[in-house]
Amino acid sequence: MKKKKIVVFSGAGMSAESGIKTFRDAGGLWEEFKIEEVATYDAWTKNQKLVLDFYNQRRKQVMEAAPNEAHKLVAELQKKFDVQVITQNIDDLHERAGSKKVLHLHGEIMKSRSSISNHLIYDLKEWEIKQGDLSEDGSQLRPHIVWFGEAVPEMDTATALTEQADIFITIGTSLNVYPAANLIHVVDSSTPKFLIDPGDFNLDYIKNLTVIKAKAVEGMDILIKKLNEYI
Ligand code: OAD
Repeated sequence: MKKKKIVVFSGAGMSAESGIKTFRDAGGLWEEFKIEEVATYDAWTKNQKLVLDFYNQRRKQVMEAAPNEAHKLVAELQKKFDVQVITQNIDDLHERAGSKKVLHLHGEIMKSRSSISNHLIYDLKEWEIKQGDLSEDGSQLRPHIVWFGEAVPEMDTATALTEQADIFITIGTSLNVYPAANLIHVVDSSTPKFLIDPGDFNLDYIKNLTVIKAKAVEGMDILIKKLNEYI
């Protein structure tokens, strides 16, 4: 029998229990750093070193982190469902947990790219991109990250995949950043939707949405049992 399609849409809360900071919670990254100083193209033109340092630190942390039980439970869903992960996260913890289909909306910290040719993308083995590290076109390498104000190249693909979902699960995202946050509104109103997050949301107007107010690990544990009735 054909497996049902699950789309898992994840955000920073998914990796919180792996020790990676979220952005907008108390103590989150955007309290410590200003978006306009580290995560825009303008910042890159003004202070390349600061931007490189910010992402080098993110990469170092990701390399030191390990997938948590929630990442592993998402990967385990593949046994019974056709699972597509769409993540806003730049870490590779879904992949390391065993998820086979992962689309990164906001880029990937373990990759660098040319600062003038978007298609020249490279895998990184080390934690640092240094000033003077060049792409084959001679330009300074930048992190392969979608900065604020930049287009989200994978958005159309993400929208098409979400439209095909039989079940939609969102985990650990404040749903604050667009266009990514729009995906939950793309899902058909008759499609079962689940939201796992310890935060407060006012989404009563979304049909067929079950909110599991819990952290990712506990929430996935609860959800995986509920999903048995949809196999
Ligand atoms: P946010 O920091 O905005 O939201 C994190 C969400 O995770 C909140 O809803 C928290 O309640 C929830 N959370 C915290 N701990 C959790 C846990 N242990 N388990 C589950 N959920 C938990 O992060 P995102 O929504 O991912 O973009 O942010 C979206 C985008 O904004 C990011 O991709 C990044 C950021 O700026 C770019 O850098 C372009």
